[in-house]
Amino acid sequence: MKKDNLFQTINSEWNRFHSKSKKNNFRKEIKLHSPTFGPEEITSFAHQMITTNVTMGTKVSDFEKKFSKMFSFKHSITSNSGSSANLLMVAALRNRNTKNHLKEKDEVIIPALTWSTSLFPLLQYGLTPVFVDCDLDTLNIDINQIESAIGPKTRGLFITHVYGNPCNMDDIISLCKKNNIILFEDSCESMGAYYKNIPVGSFGIASSFSLYFSHHITCMEGGITVTKNKTLSETMKIIRSHGWIRNCENKKKWLDLYKNFNPKFLFVDEGYNLRITEPQAIMASLQLKKLKYFVRKRRSVSKYFRKKLSKFKNIFKFQKEEKNAFHSWFGFPLTIMNKKIDRDKICKFLNKHGIETRPVVSGNLYKQPAVKHVTKRVYGKLENANYVMENSFSLGCHQDVKSEEIDYVADLINKYLREKL
Ligand SMILES: Cc1ncc(COP(=O)(O)O)c(C=O)c1O
Repeated sequence: MKKDNLFQTINSEWNRFHSKSKKNNFRKEIKLHSPTFGPEEITSFAHQMITTNVTMGTKVSDFEKKFSKMFSFKHSITSNSGSSANLLMVAALRNRNTKNHLKEKDEVIIPALTWSTSLFPLLQYGLTPVFVDCDLDTLNIDINQIESAIGPKTRGLFITHVYGNPCNMDDIISLCKKNNIILFEDSCESMGAYYKNIPVGSFGIASSFSLYFSHHITCMEGGITVTKNKTLSETMKIIRSHGWIRNCENKKKWLDLYKNFNPKFLFVDEGYNLRITEPQAIMASLQLKKLKYFVRKRRSVSKYFRKKLSKFKNIFKFQKEEKNAFHSWFGFPLTIMNKKIDRDKICKFLNKHGIETRPVVSGNLYKQPAVKHVTKRVYGKLENANYVMENSFSLGCHQDVKSEEIDYVADLINKYLREKL
């Protein structure tokens, strides 16, 4: 079947399958996520399957080049999730071939309000996390606490741009320079966000992105680690694929060192298999072209949410965009500031009326059971992260949220608050 015919078939099947939701344009519901892909991506995906070239190859490297070009990153290394992108980054920063690499028991400062798989690679690689509280307005790490949290063993700072809100990079960079700290970024929630017109992911020695279904663009599951550092990039390519050199740009270096080995099966490091596939890379390349549109939509949805909910600003704190930041709104987080309003109860009420909600990232990660028995340090009481864990929730803020649906949420909230206050 020709690609055009394949598209016709997939397109009509897509329309048939989704006709119910399309017909009734205004649905009394807001989902947390909505697919960013459609018949175009599915057709190209299926077409690539037909070629049977499915395992990592030229389509993956094409996508990596496109991603680097779009954001002026030097090296982009794809992997099968944002979590794997973090794992690769930390593994490479700990690797003996990396100049000035992190060593066992070195401390890395992380925000208490971040995702679990920002933390876990640190633990898996023998590093000690130091938890620092978040700022209740921006939800990013509280910059005022970072410097005091630095101890004699602190070597790294692993920031997260929470929900697409770029951290205050001027202050963070000068703090890292002053204290000789290695900076790396978790940008998994913030593709398409900028600080002073510079894309997130450009500031640290390396940074991660996610291509999971609910993110700004997707290839179902996927991740990307970016870096300016050639050695780190080569190390990540080795670790991503079995520990072999096959995907390195500079294989000669290794072949000169280990002359008696078959170049195809020369394993120089402990690795995993974290690769994405060719059909996924095709899908990701198509999605990349639509990223600006999706971010624009997310920004306008968040603007309308803030407008419609502004009359409740004594009750809710909205996430404050950092100064000089271009926020890409992974979701729309709200923090309840009135003791009479119970977060779980209002969420239950909204859920009952078709509005999906979720907690904001992991809440205070330090409190999670998985963290109880690990070696760690904590700075201060993490009061804000605790507060977010108990009192914040987020709403869907994607390209398919319509203004009538936001009006509907505002009416529901109004009704709920009238009853409770
Ligand atoms: C801040 C952050 N880091 C890492 C991840 C992990 O990404 P993935 O789900 O692609 O593994 C997520 C997931 O949403 C995240 O929010």
